[in-house]
Amino acid sequence: MCGIVGYVGERDALPIILQSLKRIEYRGYDSAGIACITNNGIEVYKDKGKVDDVIEKINYLKSISSNTGMGHCRWATHGAPSKTNAHPHLDGEGGIAVVHNGIIENFQSLKEELLSLGCTFVSETDTEVIPHLINHCLKNSGDVEWELKEAVKETLSRLIGSYAIIVAAKGFDGLVAARKESPLIIGVGDRENFIASDVPAVLEQTNRVIYLDEGDLAVVKNDSVYIENGGAEVKRAERLIPWTIEDAEKGGYEHFMLKEIHEEPKAITDTLRGYLAGDEITLGIDLGIEGDTKGKSILMLACGTSYYAALCGKHIIENLAKVPVQLEFASEFNYSDFVLDGANVTVMAITQSGETADTLMALKKAKRYGCKTVAITNVVGSSATRIADETIYTGAGPEIGVAATKSFVAQLVIFYLLGLQKSLAKLPEAAFLEYLEELRRMPQIAQLVLDEANGNIQKQARYLSKYEHAFFVGRGVNLPIALEGALKLKEISYIHAEGYAAGELKHGPFALLTEDTPVVAIVTHQPFKKSLIKSATQASQNVYEKMLGNVKEIKARGAPVIAIAEEGDEEVEKYVDAVVRVPRTSAIFSPIPNTVALHLLAYWAAKERGCEIDKPRNLAKSVTVE
Ligand code: M6R
Repeated sequence: MCGIVGYVGERDALPIILQSLKRIEYRGYDSAGIACITNNGIEVYKDKGKVDDVIEKINYLKSISSNTGMGHCRWATHGAPSKTNAHPHLDGEGGIAVVHNGIIENFQSLKEELLSLGCTFVSETDTEVIPHLINHCLKNSGDVEWELKEAVKETLSRLIGSYAIIVAAKGFDGLVAARKESPLIIGVGDRENFIASDVPAVLEQTNRVIYLDEGDLAVVKNDSVYIENGGAEVKRAERLIPWTIEDAEKGGYEHFMLKEIHEEPKAITDTLRGYLAGDEITLGIDLGIEGDTKGKSILMLACGTSYYAALCGKHIIENLAKVPVQLEFASEFNYSDFVLDGANVTVMAITQSGETADTLMALKKAKRYGCKTVAITNVVGSSATRIADETIYTGAGPEIGVAATKSFVAQLVIFYLLGLQKSLAKLPEAAFLEYLEELRRMPQIAQLVLDEANGNIQKQARYLSKYEHAFFVGRGVNLPIALEGALKLKEISYIHAEGYAAGELKHGPFALLTEDTPVVAIVTHQPFKKSLIKSATQASQNVYEKMLGNVKEIKARGAPVIAIAEEGDEEVEKYVDAVVRVPRTSAIFSPIPNTVALHLLAYWAAKERGCEIDKPRNLAKSVTVE
């Protein structure tokens, strides 16, 4: 996965391209490059390394007079990070330059064909076939623009796989862009236009954005944007992006991740704002489970953190709405013979980016089963929203850190809203209103964790950071939060962390417990309001006692225990080595404060270990390849 940017206008292209690249380096950061059209042809500079370092070298080495150009930051898929594998790639004559995000699956056979025609390849990338093919499709008609567009079309018809590309050609003062299964937007300016994989790349220049649709091809010049799809011209609406560039920047925090954790209360507020007015929840979409829900069910499909949010959502929706929810990793669903009753199952794809390849593929498969499909995503106009029948947006705002944080709590909020909306016919009104009241308190609850627990969490993180292995355990609605806590810790601090159902430790992992394997245990209390206690099942009331039992078992094996426990719970202190206090809530809402605490714990542990928190090794923000 990579980031691509393009500029056509009347200003100097190079500084704009470099600035845009910096904004989307989270999409790929093992190498970077630029290409600009000049009076002498196409000038290219690229190198291996972090975007910042490559930009610095370009600034030092290059003064290019050009009004048209493109840039790329790479996350390697074909060929290791290197100068030659970095983009842009050129055809043999150096007259065509291409930047690409995606994977060309049939590149090997195309390469052999092109080699037999006399082409020479310099890189190991799949991308390099594209400029060569375009060159071979040129007709020498004299009309450079028309010819380039037609050659790109012909080339694309030969490609199998996914792509967002920008093409520049010597002698043409514009760019051709196209997308298939990879995101691409056009930023609309005044006598200048921008192309990018993602909105933050253009926000400093404009907030007028066109989202290219699947299969779109665009010819972008300084004063026009022409789009066609399937050979015919199409009009795409321009949207005004409400985010400012400040929204997309670090805002004074050392890392995006810390900023984004501190934005969790706001993400909850903004997500609620969209759907909760007074005591009325309006998601505004047909979920396919309206009215009598008998025989109906939900299947959630997701990857990574979004999968854990979905697992929590299963608990929330089943508990509140009593609608059965199944759950599958999107990558597993795609390659299994799933038995699915399309008429009665609503499929929900949970994906903050809306671009995760596995999840998009799963959505398409669900549609083939005839299921109603709903995307729950944070990105307006993302690919998932185009595939699904309906979309519910989370209101987390741009999330730049590779580790998903505020988007996770925003996803949880959607599940509370869904569960409560569907619970209306099943819960006593008093309980419904109490739940709603608690849900409205969640931004303050999250804020309390940030304000009051942060210091202690830093202390516990310092302790945790000395170890190489850790366990995170929980039960019920907090098992997914334990899994999320472990994922976050391993992802950014490189400490090996396993999330486990607390009751499962004795079935194997006990063998690993020693004084060198600290265990973070989420010890959730029982519901504390009378009406909620009545509506909670006996099983969920027993979770606290069972967790204490599990903690004692862990301690008996010599492992240190850090408990995440509620204010006022003095009992837990007797059995553990340290306690991180979170505000007390009903059990069902406890994932919110517990998540904020565990996100902070992972952050501070990674900081203590000096890790590259926003760009953990081997990972990227949106995983647009299978
Ligand atoms: O954009 P998505 O929610 O579909 O992304 C899914 C996962 O790639 C993502 O949650 C990943 O696990 C995060 N980096 C975890 O912090």
